[in-house]
Amino acid sequence: MHLGLIGYGNIARTLLKVLAQEQAAISALTVLSLPEFAEGVEGELATTFPASARVVTRAEELIAAGPDLVVECAGHQAVAQHATAVLRAGIETLIVSIGALADAGLYAQLTRAAHEGGSRFLLPAGAIGGVDILSALRPAGISAVTYTGRKPPMAWTGTPAEALVDLAGLTEEAVFFEGTARDAATLYPKNANVAATLALAGIGWDETRVRLIADPAVGRNIHEYSVTSEVADYTIRIEGKPSVDNPKTSVTTVYSVAREVLNRLREVAI
Ligand SMILES: NC(=O)c1ccc[n+]([C@@H]2O[C@H](COP(=O)([O-])OP(=O)(O)OC[C@H]3O[C@@H](n4cnc5c(N)ncnc54)[C@H](O)[C@@H]3O)[C@@H](O)[C@H]2O)c1
Repeated sequence: MHLGLIGYGNIARTLLKVLAQEQAAISALTVLSLPEFAEGVEGELATTFPASARVVTRAEELIAAGPDLVVECAGHQAVAQHATAVLRAGIETLIVSIGALADAGLYAQLTRAAHEGGSRFLLPAGAIGGVDILSALRPAGISAVTYTGRKPPMAWTGTPAEALVDLAGLTEEAVFFEGTARDAATLYPKNANVAATLALAGIGWDETRVRLIADPAVGRNIHEYSVTSEVADYTIRIEGKPSVDNPKTSVTTVYSVAREVLNRLREVAI
């Protein structure tokens, strides 16, 4: 497979490690980087992918390189900047920065581009799981999806939570946001990916309920959500463990992206 990457940060780097460890048959790699980092990325790839990696700085160059699959792992702005052209060129694109799709105009634009290009964009489960059953149950009728995001208080610094609770002084959990996935994605962009994934897989931005909690009793980021449907109810809870190599990497997200790539390379997709 010729793999295209938009962005070469934590997720991209760790993804390539996982794919190498799994001996994935990646015959060529093209990375779309910001111009100011292109040289550094080239230098890094010269050791990991000596013969087959190329670094480009424009979507047109990425398209011309002819990747079989493009993985966007660069950020919300990069989705807006590059994904439309890639999809319109007929290249399947995995979008990791799913929170970007809270912008209804961008979502419509990408859908149109995919339709015109005869391609599609894929939304991996990312930091959470259970998206298979959530999406599968949609035609059966889902009446409620309720997500709770729980993190250690200081993990919420730099968000509007700072103004709502005394994060440093908390002695017990504080629920500082309760509302729709739409509002959660807008007010808390760092949490937007999970809210967006659940909203898009299930019952939409306004029906999906979100609670965000600062909890001094936990040391990890905990995602939990419950689904009520006509045929089954379920609750799923995921406790992310910090990565020893790179505490900033969302490791479950990397593995969920690797799964999408590996499923395209193996005889059995699961
Ligand atoms: N779906 C999920 O559950 C989930 C979970 C975690 C992270 N994410 C998203 O994944 C994305 C990547 O995360 P990360 O930890 O690898 O981030 P990171 O900051 O480590 O890496 C992003 C990389 O993209 C590059 N970049 C930024 N804008 C670009 C552009 N316009 N064109 C080309 N390259 C560009 C940066 O230079 C950087 O190398 C983020 O948007 C994050 O929100 C999604």
